[in-house]
Amino acid sequence: MTNTTQPDWAIPNYLEVKDNHLQINGVDAIALTDQYDTPLFVISAPRIRANIARLLAAKQHHPKLKLCYASKANNTLGVLRVVREAGIDVEVNSGGELFKALRAGFKPEQIEMNGIAKTEQEIAEAIEAEIYAINLDSPFELELVEQVAAKLGKRANVTLRLVAGVSTRSHAGLQTAMYTSKFGISPAQARQMMLRALRNPEAVNLVGIHIHVGSQTPDPEPYVQAFQTMWEHLLWLHKETGHTLQHINIGGGIPVNYLRDRSHAEEISEDERTMLGAILTSDEAIGAALQVVRDAARNAGAEHLLRDLEIVMEPGRSVIADAVTLLTKVRNVKTRPETDDHWALTDAGYNLMLSMVLYHWYYHAVNASRAGEEHSSRYRMAGPLCDGGDVYFDMHGDGHLPDHRLLPSDAKVGEVIAMLNTGAYTMSQMTAYNGRPFPAAVLIEENGQIEVIRKRDNYEDLVLNEM
Ligand SMILES: Cc1ncc(COP(=O)(O)O)c(C=O)c1O
Repeated sequence: MTNTTQPDWAIPNYLEVKDNHLQINGVDAIALTDQYDTPLFVISAPRIRANIARLLAAKQHHPKLKLCYASKANNTLGVLRVVREAGIDVEVNSGGELFKALRAGFKPEQIEMNGIAKTEQEIAEAIEAEIYAINLDSPFELELVEQVAAKLGKRANVTLRLVAGVSTRSHAGLQTAMYTSKFGISPAQARQMMLRALRNPEAVNLVGIHIHVGSQTPDPEPYVQAFQTMWEHLLWLHKETGHTLQHINIGGGIPVNYLRDRSHAEEISEDERTMLGAILTSDEAIGAALQVVRDAARNAGAEHLLRDLEIVMEPGRSVIADAVTLLTKVRNVKTRPETDDHWALTDAGYNLMLSMVLYHWYYHAVNASRAGEEHSSRYRMAGPLCDGGDVYFDMHGDGHLPDHRLLPSDAKVGEVIAMLNTGAYTMSQMTAYNGRPFPAAVLIEENGQIEVIRKRDNYEDLVLNEM
């Protein structure tokens, strides 16, 4: 603990210990589980707003900054509503996410669409809605958009998504701007494609260029590199044709510090520690990129192009990850004398935290029923699934997860475990594997007001569409 009263994972006025229980925005976590049962996603509206305010600090470098929340991180309607009311825009990745964004009240001009394999129907839906931009992933997609737009008699706003050979210090699966990644258009094709797009102004309006370097990016350099690449393309196009792109989209990837409590930090590899404990801010990333590009713009006599440019960011994780706590109950405990292990088995596994197996992602665990007690007893923690891989510890010896989890001694059935920072890529990836209905989610407001924004599914929901 950093001080005598609150543990290291605490966040003032948000995640705190009171009367030995975890409190979330002043609401007792145990009382929440008494009322709504477990597993339960608890979402803090004030924390979402605070995260957005922090991301908007980058405006000091460039007032024309447009934040489009990457809804894939968590596209629950109640979350989208809080994000919209906080005054920012949204990024979608499919027809379904476009539908949800519109349903949540976003206006079409607030919506941009990514997607690696968009269907004709999805493209048509985006064009019909007249969204801010469709981010194209290949020369083929440009042709497809042209055809669909012509059929609809409408003009599509398009942006080119580039790969630029940029790596980051994150998981291989989370790096999306390398030439080996499945995303984006190669620089060898991008210029031709831009010229091609300009030849068909009836159907397409070329408005921007985009690079998403990847998720949970710890350093500013990839942002600098990506911004430079996009700026060079923008400048080239302007010189070549006189056409000015309206925006540069620098993607998402601003990280979240999953290791505020570092009690397990030494058990994971250094690379992993750097990545999970990253503290890069949007302010630093945009500031660093602009510092370099401003010089380039000055040298090229193109300062006006930079001044008028809209910079788009697509933060997902940094908006929602630490705004959500997954409350799960211990449902079984046992010891194994052969290995001297104590086991604590909960009702939330990788069905709700898929990244735990996909990327061996670390979520800090706290005993919410005894949050003020010392967490120093080693437990093998695991979820409820009939799958040996459904565990909270390292099975692979690859330094991603700790070997055990630390909890107060004598963990008991019925105690509530809080999995912190579980807002991003959790609810949006959950599955009903093993016949486990989706859990409920509640939204907590500043004044402690509680709103159920997702009711718990029941057994009937498991067979809803089965014939
Ligand atoms: C194109 C794109 N933009 C934005 C994001 C959001 O990234 P993050 O949640 O790390 O901010 C992603 C997710 O990987 C993405 O693929």
